[in-house]
Amino acid sequence: MKVYCEENYDAMSKRAARIMREQIEKKPDSVLGLATGSTPVGMYKELYDADFSRVITVNLDEYVGLDGTHDQSYRYFMDNNLFYHTNIKPENTHVPDGTSRDAESECKRYDELLEKFSPIDMQLLGLGQNGHIGFNEPGESFIPNTHVVELTESTIEANARFFESKSDVPRKAITMGVGAIMQAKCVLMLVSGENKADAVKAAFSGPITPRVPASILQLHPNVILVGDKAALSGLIETGIELC
Ligand code: GLP
Repeated sequence: MKVYCEENYDAMSKRAARIMREQIEKKPDSVLGLATGSTPVGMYKELYDADFSRVITVNLDEYVGLDGTHDQSYRYFMDNNLFYHTNIKPENTHVPDGTSRDAESECKRYDELLEKFSPIDMQLLGLGQNGHIGFNEPGESFIPNTHVVELTESTIEANARFFESKSDVPRKAITMGVGAIMQAKCVLMLVSGENKADAVKAAFSGPITPRVPASILQLHPNVILVGDKAALSGLIETGIELC
């Protein structure tokens, strides 16, 4: 694993954008696995002028029940924080459909799509405060395939800041499983802020356990972790080598 420790959020965003830009330049028809949340917004801004004309994207997750016009849906997030600002072809962007009447068959459709584009060249990830990746929540086992998940109380609380009230946060989501994430050629994880420090430490220096879903990344051969000092503080204590 390569760990880049940057001074602050802005420097983290610029470093991550440079890594993703290099990926797109090296392979213009890259398949990028993309993520939502507040962490990658700065990185996305840095990439508006990158050449996405041949890039294909697959997103990690979507809330069940929200359609793409809802301003908290992940489709809306991606359109407004990245896609509308780039030359990407809309038909090359993929986000699970949260409004499908049959969420289970939507999971199957999404897995078939992932299979078609497999392996993802670069998978971007954020990190939940409870150690989740995408919406792979802490549980009893790692789930390889795309699945419907009941969001944990801590995730609902963490994401309530984006909604008018906590009761507006959907209770369920569709998420890519850890299988497609682990098959990605490269995983680029971004972490920022001291509220992520415990999760970062648990994920990368604790045991590999489904109770901390991101810990499975310890088994991935090519992880790049880009964080600011605050988020990486717990890991730095362990003496991990930094780039
Ligand atoms: C959400 C998303 C994750 C994201 C995480 C962290 O729950 N499903 O993909 O990584 O939150 O979000 P933030 O970057 O806002 O801390």
